[in-house]
Amino acid sequence: MSPRHFLTLLDFSPLELQRIIARAIELKHMRFHPTHDQLFKNRVLAMIFDKSSTRTRVSFEAAMAQCGGSAIFLSPRDTQLGRGEPLEDSARVLSRMVDIIMIRTHAHADIERFAQYARVPVINALTDAHHPCQLLADMQTYQELRGSIANAKVAWVGDGNNMCHSYIHAAQQFNFQLSIACPTGFEPNLKLVQQYQDRVTVSQNLAATLDQADLVVTDVWASMGQEQEQEKRKAAFSNYQMTAEKLNLAQPNALFMHCLPAHRGEEISEDLLDDARSVVWQEAENRLHSQKALIEFLLLEAAAL
Ligand code: CP
Ligand code: NVA
Repeated sequence: MSPRHFLTLLDFSPLELQRIIARAIELKHMRFHPTHDQLFKNRVLAMIFDKSSTRTRVSFEAAMAQCGGSAIFLSPRDTQLGRGEPLEDSARVLSRMVDIIMIRTHAHADIERFAQYARVPVINALTDAHHPCQLLADMQTYQELRGSIANAKVAWVGDGNNMCHSYIHAAQQFNFQLSIACPTGFEPNLKLVQQYQDRVTVSQNLAATLDQADLVVTDVWASMGQEQEQEKRKAAFSNYQMTAEKLNLAQPNALFMHCLPAHRGEEISEDLLDDARSVVWQEAENRLHSQKALIEFLLLEAAAL
């Protein structure tokens, strides 16, 4: 039987996603429960990183350690993958040695190809197209602070990037309306927008996007791999910087999220992360808890289905 993977939020049903979020909240409060450090006993996670990371690496590695398992960090500099060993071969070999694999890479097609050849679950820890693990943490954070996100209005401000694409999937899976404001030429994938057009709008109208929003989210203007476009993007996005004043256009009790790392003075004002409406530190912490719930689901529950 082929294993379940988590390459996008569409790989799980809305009910499964709700259960993972609920379990993440539960595990957060069970850190020192006697069963906690047995959850992934003797299980090994391989972590392939083709791009940099702080939160993703530390949260996955800490999750495995705290639950009795272990993690192996693999970078292209030190593995044969970096010297051209095919993805297909690497997937087959690693699958025979570890219990679960996490990958952060460039092309989304590469992780799909890897998963096709893996006989253990594969988790997308960010590709150029999607970042579903971050959405688990974001949805957990909203649930903790405001309850269900169903029927809420979420505003995405800035680049139509991997995070924006995962927000489009989240709008579908968690049943909210997503209003996206981005400069011309930096819109999210048009096919994806069309597919979910009953839930998603895209415009250059920042005020209309923020109006009545319950949650406001932004991200860097130049993602990993786009460093050479930095200056061009700075100019194109200059009107899209999120500030406390702009956040005032949203609901009075709106939350502000950013997956981090953030660039103060670019996509956010110097002080926005310190605003009372910003929940970015809780959001970052929840990467740890939501990924424990994700790993548990893939290792224990999905395997038994
Ligand atoms: N948000 C996020 O994925 O952060 P890292 O790039 O530090 O892992
Ligand atoms: N959009 C950003 C997210 C980083 C977590 C990037 O891909 O670099």
